[in-house]
Amino acid sequence: MEITNVMEYEAIAKEKLPKMVYDYYASGAEDQWTLQENRNAFSRILFRPRILIDVSKIDMTTSILGFNISMPIMIAPTAMLKMAHPEGEYAVARAASAAGTIMTLSSWATSNVEEVASTGPGIRFFQLYVMKDRNVVAQLVRRAERAGFKAIALTVDTPRLGRREADIKNRFNLPPHFTLKNFEGLDLGKMDKADDSGLSSYVSSQVDQSLSWKDVKWLQTITHLPILLKGVLTAEDARLAVEAGVSGIIVSNHGARQLDYVPATIMALEEVVKAVQGRIPVFVDGGIRRGTDVFKALALGASGIFVGRPAVFSLAAHGEAGVRKVLQMLRDEFELTMALSGCRSLKEITRDRILAPWDSPRIAPRL
Ligand SMILES: Cc1cc2nc3c(=O)[nH]c(=O)nc-3n(C[C@H](O)[C@H](O)[C@H](O)COP(=O)(O)O)c2cc1C
Repeated sequence: MEITNVMEYEAIAKEKLPKMVYDYYASGAEDQWTLQENRNAFSRILFRPRILIDVSKIDMTTSILGFNISMPIMIAPTAMLKMAHPEGEYAVARAASAAGTIMTLSSWATSNVEEVASTGPGIRFFQLYVMKDRNVVAQLVRRAERAGFKAIALTVDTPRLGRREADIKNRFNLPPHFTLKNFEGLDLGKMDKADDSGLSSYVSSQVDQSLSWKDVKWLQTITHLPILLKGVLTAEDARLAVEAGVSGIIVSNHGARQLDYVPATIMALEEVVKAVQGRIPVFVDGGIRRGTDVFKALALGASGIFVGRPAVFSLAAHGEAGVRKVLQMLRDEFELTMALSGCRSLKEITRDRILAPWDSPRIAPRL
C-alpha cells in the first residue's frame, strides 16, 4: 500500500524491528506526557490563510549559518542508526544530501565522522555530548572539523539520561556487533551490560554532569565551527546563550526523552524567539510530522526545523529510499501549505498567518 504521510512509517518500523530497538527509538520519558504534547500542541495552532495571491511559484530555499539549502527541513541527530538498518547513518547522510538539506550526526552514531563524510558531498553538522574526558572531546571536535562538518550542535539537556521505562524493562543495550564508532579505540565505544538501561549507565559513567556555561566558552576556544545550543526551552537560557556568543539555538526537549512535563517545543518556541531579539537564529525540533507543522514553526519565528523519529522509522522501513521519501513528503506538504496560505517565500510566513491559543481572540465571541 502506498505511503501517504510520514507517520505511516512508524507501524512498518515497529513490525520490522526487534522490540528492544523499536522501544528505544519510539519512547519518551516516564509518563510520556511531553511525547503526546509535542504532537498535540500543533493541533491547537490554526491558520489564517490569505487568498488571491499568485502562488504559481513557491521558493522554499533558505540559508542556515550561511549554507544554502533547499528547504528549512533538516535532520536531527539520532543515536545508533545501524540498529534500524545496515546502512544506518550513511543512508540518512545520502538521503539528506540528495534532498539538498542538512544532516546532524549524533556523537553516539554507529558510524564515525570520517565514514559519514566519505559517503559524498553534503552539508553536515556534528552533535556533541561532552564526556568527562575533555581530551576525547577535543579530539572528536577536531576530527569532525577535518571531516568537513560545518557546525557543532552542543546538546545541553542531557547531564543524565531521562528515565525511559521501556529501555529499563528491556535492559536496553547496544547489540555487541555494533560500536559507538566515534569513540572506537578510546574504551568508550561499548556499553557495559547493566541491570537497567545500558545507555543510562553509559551516560552516568561517561557524560560530564558538571557541564556549565563556562564550558560553552571552553568549546569556543577549541573550535572555530559555529556552535548551536540544542535543548533550550526558556527565555532566560536563550538570553544567556546569546551572551555566551553561540551561533544559534535549537529549541528542543530531546524528543520528549529527557524531562517529562516540559512543554511541547512548539509552545516554548515563541518565548525563546522573543528573548533572542533576532540576534541569532532559532531552530526547533519535536513532533514535527507534517508540512503544516513546519509552517507553524516558521510562523512562530523558527529559521528552520529538524526531524528525529521520522528519519529513524523510515530508515528502518525502507533504508535510504525511505528517508528520501520522508524528506520529499515533508517538502511537498510544506509547499502546499505555503500555497494554500498565500506565502511565496519563507519571509512571507509571518506571525499573522497563524492563530495560537495564547493570542488574543480575533473572532468576535458569540453573544
Ligand atoms: C532514537 C533517538 C535517538 C536520539 N539520539 C540523540 C542524540 O544522540 N543526541 C541528541 O542530541 N539528540 C538525540 N535525540 C533527540 C533528537 O535529536 C531530536 O531532538 C528529537 O528526536 C526530535 O523529536 P522528534 O523525534 O519528535 O522529531 C534522539 C532522539 C531519538 C528519537
